[in-house]
Amino acid sequence: MARWLLRGAVRLPENGTDLRLPTAPGDSRPRHVAVIMDGNGRWATRRGLSRVSGHEAGMRALSSVLDGALEEGIEHLSLFCFSTENWSRPHAEVTALMRLAEGAYDFFGGYVDRGIRFWWQGSEARLPSEVVDALREAEERTRQSRTMTVVFCFNHGGREEIARTAAELARRAVTGRLDPEAIDESVFSRHLPLPDLPDIDMLIRTSGEQRISNFMLWRAAYAEFFFVDTLWPDFTGDHLRALVTAFMTRKRRFGAVTSG
Ligand code: IPE
Ligand code: IPE
Ligand code: MG
Repeated sequence: MARWLLRGAVRLPENGTDLRLPTAPGDSRPRHVAVIMDGNGRWATRRGLSRVSGHEAGMRALSSVLDGALEEGIEHLSLFCFSTENWSRPHAEVTALMRLAEGAYDFFGGYVDRGIRFWWQGSEARLPSEVVDALREAEERTRQSRTMTVVFCFNHGGREEIARTAAELARRAVTGRLDPEAIDESVFSRHLPLPDLPDIDMLIRTSGEQRISNFMLWRAAYAEFFFVDTLWPDFTGDHLRALVTAFMTRKRRFGAVTSG
């Protein structure tokens, strides 16, 4: 059980049970949980399946994770689904991932009655127009929901997002709508795509890799990191709930000095 206290990658039991740690009184729950859902390819390869089957299994794993997130009362759940670097994968794999994104509403629409709102985080560049339209439509059709916002990070890159924000600020400065001297961290945050999305409290990466892979660099500034060995298709709502419990034992300092 003390595994949670180890630094570095943590191996989770396959069934996700028996993972509770005592919660620290007074510690708050994470408002924004972000997940780098990694390991679909390895999951499939180990079973003699195609990488595309791994991505399909990864999509199916989401149901249990959404249940867990709703039970934990998480307000924003960001899911890294396709990075600006993933274009370098084989064409057939990229095409399959585009197809999965196109079906976003087929999947997330099933959760509207449970209050799930869908936001897309990413660049339109290079995306087929059908994918852009499908993602925008999923946003539109879940607009009224309020219980939990799922941020679908698709064609997302942390640097791309920062560069796009800088370009927007420059456009405003050049046209006299913004005083360059007024640009500070809070002005920058307000011009990011999805300005209402708060900073990440807890960032989970599955599959044992311990890197950020260009994910939400601005908003991850003070995230608590959780690296787990479980491959994404095996990750469940119980795993998520156990990690939230572990999060509540972390002491966040934000650069200040605190007692204890
Ligand atoms: C994560 O799984 C999903 C995407 C990047 C689209 P991977 O496809 O990266 O799986 P591994 O890392 O090759 O096992
Ligand atoms: C990060 O995983 C992107 C997603 C999970 C969508 P990758 O598998 O692409 O990251 P690297 O290449 O191992 O850094
Ligand atoms: Mg990977």
